[in-house]
Amino acid sequence: MSKNGKFITFEGPEGAGKSTQLRLLAEELRSRGFEVVTTREPGGTPLAELLRNILKTHQGTETLHPETELLLMEAARSQHAREVILPALERGAVVLCDRFYDSTTAYQGAARNIDTSLIAELNIFAAAFRKPDLTLILDLDIESGFRRAGKRQETAGEYDRFEAENRSFHSRVREGFHAIAAKEPQRVRIIDAEGTPEEVAARIRSAADELF
Ligand code: TMP
Repeated sequence: MSKNGKFITFEGPEGAGKSTQLRLLAEELRSRGFEVVTTREPGGTPLAELLRNILKTHQGTETLHPETELLLMEAARSQHAREVILPALERGAVVLCDRFYDSTTAYQGAARNIDTSLIAELNIFAAAFRKPDLTLILDLDIESGFRRAGKRQETAGEYDRFEAENRSFHSRVREGFHAIAAKEPQRVRIIDAEGTPEEVAARIRSAADELF
């Protein structure tokens, strides 16, 4: 019998501090005795990580078309959902995922302009029909996101296809996330990502507490 754990996803622009916040919530929930699985998209399994590498770093004369990008994201998700997320939820674990299908709606839908009803169908199919129980969108204005992500790229020093996009792309992503929150207020919370990591973590804890 399925024990049905909790599935929480973290969304938002580059530079919003998702990974730090995910780690802090994982520590908090583990200290309360939960089994916590942390993972990310695109990626989370060896095969899906290979697709992540193509999606993030592809360069050269052959264009990676938006439609191909969408299908690779969904292929990675299908693998990840079936290999990692569903088995963990069935064990009763809490799964914290750094990005999930709302990123597809915001990036490939709102920013790359692919039909969002097609994306909605592919999303739920790839996710094996399991929706997140709670989605936290870490919200940051475009300029702060650019500053923080730019610093990260300088340190890491590698080309990233998404971070290389311009401000107008990233402002469409942000609008896309806001539209999702407006459409699904039960599942989705906008979290102000300005402030210290501790301040943001407190906002996240109080949103997550509604689930436990
Ligand atoms: P990140 O994990 O470092 O944020 O990198 C993942 C990138 O992939 C990020 O720029 C957003 C993008 N992305 C999409 O465009 N669509 C998706 O469905 C997902 C999961 C991520």
